[in-house]
Amino acid sequence: MGKAFGRVTAAVIAFALVAPVAVFAQDVIKNRKDDMQILRKSVGAVKAVVDGKDGPEAAAAPAQAVADVGKRLLADFPPGSDQGDTKAAALIWSDRAGFEAAVANFNTAAGALLVASNAKNLDGIKSAFDGVGRTCGACHDKYRGK
Ligand code: HEC
Repeated sequence: MGKAFGRVTAAVIAFALVAPVAVFAQDVIKNRKDDMQILRKSVGAVKAVVDGKDGPEAAAAPAQAVADVGKRLLADFPPGSDQGDTKAAALIWSDRAGFEAAVANFNTAAGALLVASNAKNLDGIKSAFDGVGRTCGACHDKYRGK
C-alpha cells in the first residue's frame, strides 16, 4: 500500500460521505420548487374563481393543495439546502424564527382560504385570496434572493 493509494482511498471515502449529502440537497431543492409551482398553479386556479371565470365550487381542490403545501413548507427548507441551484436566501436559516413566522402567517391565510372555499363563499374566497397573496409576497421579499 503506497502513499498514493492511501490518498485515493481517502478521497473515495470522502466522496462516499459527501455525495449523498449533495444529492439530498438537490432533491430537497427540487421538491420545494415543485411545491412552489403547485402553489403558483393552485393560486391561479383560485384566481379564476375570484375573476368569475369559474364558479366558487372550483376553489376547494386548489385551496386544499395550497394548505397541504403549507404543512410541508418548513420541512422544504432544511439546513444545508442553501447550496445549489436555489434562490433561497441565507436569512432563512440565520433568522429561523422570522422564517417560521412567515410560514405560520401563510398557513393562517391558507386556512382561511380553505374554509371559505369549502363553504363556496365567494366573498370569503376573494378576501382570503388577497390574504394568501400577501403572505406569498411577504416571504418572497424577505427570504427569496435574486
Ligand atoms: C415562507 C416563505 C414562502 C412562502 C409563504 C411562499 N414562498 Fe414561494 N418561494 C420561497 C422561496 C425561499 C423560494 C426560492 C426557492 C428556491 O429557489 O429554492 C420560492 C420560490 C417560488 C417560486 C419559484 C419556484 C421555482 O420553480 O424556482 C414560485 C413560482 C413561488 N415561490 C410561488 C409562491 C406562491 C404562489 C406562494 C403563495 C401561494 C408562495 N410562493 C409562498 C418562499 C416562500
